[in-house]
Amino acid sequence: MNQAKAFAHVPISGYQVGAVLITARGRVFLGANLEFPGQPLSTAVHAEQAALAAALMAGEQSFARLDVSAPPCGHCRQFLREFDRGGLGIRILAAETAPATSTLDHLLPQAFGGEYFSSGLNASEARLPELPDKEWAAAAREALARSHAPYSGNRAVAVLAGGKRLFITGASLENAAFNPSLGPMQCALSQWRMAGHDFKHIEAAWLVQSDTRRVDWELQSRELLASVGVPGTTRPGPAAAEGCTFDAAHRVLRLR
Ligand code: THU
Ligand code: ZN
Repeated sequence: MNQAKAFAHVPISGYQVGAVLITARGRVFLGANLEFPGQPLSTAVHAEQAALAAALMAGEQSFARLDVSAPPCGHCRQFLREFDRGGLGIRILAAETAPATSTLDHLLPQAFGGEYFSSGLNASEARLPELPDKEWAAAAREALARSHAPYSGNRAVAVLAGGKRLFITGASLENAAFNPSLGPMQCALSQWRMAGHDFKHIEAAWLVQSDTRRVDWELQSRELLASVGVPGTTRPGPAAAEGCTFDAAHRVLRLR
């Protein structure tokens, strides 16, 4: 747990939260919170989201237990519900409470979910963009398949690169209640951090979006990159002038 907490990047609160997720197959994923200075507080990635995102990006879909260093907030409970198939046990290891394993049914009774409405959209029907024959694109393709975007229909992925063969991806992970959703750049930057890298080593960034009619991640992606100090990722005008290009045929935006 302390190992997870150590990855927290908390320039706003100074409060580190750690999470350890164990999948049904016994794989372990760590999560820590990530805050973006200058950005709305709602852009923070919670430790629970970071751990679950890491597991989802690794292709895991079934989860056994989540240990957290503080009680999971309402937003996290709602986020977890989207991906829990009923088997998730949650242990709160906060010093003030005795560690007992609980379930989401207990922590989030009478929960809201996508079953309450039909958006008329199904992400699995969204046509995935054809990507160029590049190494980063192979990573993007895998991440696109793992995105969860049934509400906007925009299966979106951010790819961050540092060094020759290092590609870290983040996918849009949408939530039925909309607000707890994680965007592709939030997800990618969290993965970057959880992999132990420094933000200043981000050398290139791409955003791939399948359908921007309902949700477009471009502005948030630029803002978040700028917030963690990645240069050359300002607003569309200047950035375009600095060589950030949009490849319309492939629906790919090079952000850095
Ligand atoms: N935080 C979490 O990571 N998980 C929770 O469920 C509670 C709150 C983080 C978010 C923010 O970075 C800091 O703790 C203060 O709220
Ligand atoms: Zn939370």
